[in-house]
Amino acid sequence: MPVGCAKQKQEMDLLRSVFKAGTACDEPLEPDAKRLKREEGSGEGGKHRSATGGGVTSTSGGGGGGDGDGAGDGGAIADGTPVLPKKEEDLGHYVTREIHLRKQEDDGELVYKTIKNDGNEQHMIWLVTLKNIFSKQLPNMPKEYIVRLVFNPNHHSMICLKNNLVIAGVTYRPFWPQKMGEIAFCAVSANEQVKGYGTRLMNHLKTYVCEQENMTHLITFADNNAVGYFAKQGFTKDVMMDREKWVGYIKEYDGGTIMECHLSAQVSYTDFPVMIRTQRQAVAEKIKQLSSAHLVYPGLSRFLNKPHGSGGVHAPDTYIPASEIMTTVDGLKQAGWVQPGLPKFRLVHPGCGDGTPTRDNLHRFMRSLVALVNGHPDAWPFVDAINPTEVPDYYDVIKDPLYLELIKERVDCGEYYLTLEMFAADFRLLFNNCRLYNSPETVFFKCATRLENFFDGKVQAGISWKSIRGERTERG
Ligand code: COA
Repeated sequence: MPVGCAKQKQEMDLLRSVFKAGTACDEPLEPDAKRLKREEGSGEGGKHRSATGGGVTSTSGGGGGGDGDGAGDGGAIADGTPVLPKKEEDLGHYVTREIHLRKQEDDGELVYKTIKNDGNEQHMIWLVTLKNIFSKQLPNMPKEYIVRLVFNPNHHSMICLKNNLVIAGVTYRPFWPQKMGEIAFCAVSANEQVKGYGTRLMNHLKTYVCEQENMTHLITFADNNAVGYFAKQGFTKDVMMDREKWVGYIKEYDGGTIMECHLSAQVSYTDFPVMIRTQRQAVAEKIKQLSSAHLVYPGLSRFLNKPHGSGGVHAPDTYIPASEIMTTVDGLKQAGWVQPGLPKFRLVHPGCGDGTPTRDNLHRFMRSLVALVNGHPDAWPFVDAINPTEVPDYYDVIKDPLYLELIKERVDCGEYYLTLEMFAADFRLLFNNCRLYNSPETVFFKCATRLENFFDGKVQAGISWKSIRGERTERG
């Protein structure tokens, strides 16, 4: 026997004599909760955690759930349809890590087992190693207390074996009548932390206690350092379980936070990657039924290979006439776009004909607004495109540049702005670009805000909603 094992055996013999291993077999499988509570009160729980209860011993295979659904690369759901995206990176950090660990389990490198002090020599050796991991990783826990709970036959431990060595484990105590398990300790050995084993261990534990022990809740008193970890494992500080189910059974101690994880039999916690993929696929299918967003049409050729205009602004030589948009732009009709009808306001700005917001009248209004804005004393920073040699990083920051001359050109062509909203949106972009690049104390920033107020005021003054309401009433 190697030296390490001999030492472990020595410890084991000692512990066996202390705990009289195997007595658990004589205990009822589902002990009376009240008796547990009384025993608890009689002092064994110490000041940290509860330490009574009953349990069964069994082992869980390394496959997690054991349904052999192929969570590794190239896996498939039951009907044989491949559901894995080719690229793992599409799945996100969490799922990618789970896939990797699942593969180690499939290869037999990682094995998860649930054991307890039942007199089995191998179990005792593993429990000694686990106890040592807990002692090292939980230095604030009294060592005797750890020993007492780990080797208490009423406590179960799920261990993670990597190449037959215990690298992590969680010790919990089942409360059968309440269908809950109280996690006493959980730790991963120092050189194996932050590799996902802690998460995988908890997922195996959830699957195991849910499927094999019919539990609905895991509960724990987490110290400040552990709250973050448990939160990531789906534990919440809001305990939804009925208070009488846990108060008095779970030992509360200073500085701890009670946390609960509700378990669902419908969730296979060790098969998250497959579940997430299947869910994503289902959502994508549903979206496809409701929308045509997945249909991608080729871009408009008139923009292809066209050199950038002044200041990096991309402007076509000609605009598509509104009347031809439906037939010229692929996908518009399919997306359900329809030519907007006449807006529900009237134009009350001088020079806008009879005020009906027809395309011609709207363009008169827009031309007039551009002239007014251009003539404003704060308009000077916005008239022309920013010269990149004068402001070298401008186009690194501003990805959709705009300037008044270009807006004027777009109005003049008569086909670009189909609605007043489109026209106003360009002005909004013009001002927002300025405020994005310049800080609030600059003259440019202040000009943008003043000119925007002026523009908004002119738009508001040039339209009237009242007239159309009146008109409607008359017609109605
Ligand atoms: N606080 C906040 N988050 C933590 C954390 C902590 N103390 N420990 C781990 N995490 C995070 C990880 O960053 C990781 O986040 P991610 O999923 O966004 O990447 C996630 O929890 C789990 O990481 P994982 O690699 O699976 O954890 P692990 O293998 O390192 O195991 C512990 C986590 C807590 C079990 C392990 O660090 C440990 O043994 N710590 C000392 C003992 C301890 O505190 N036990 C818990 C109370 S009994």
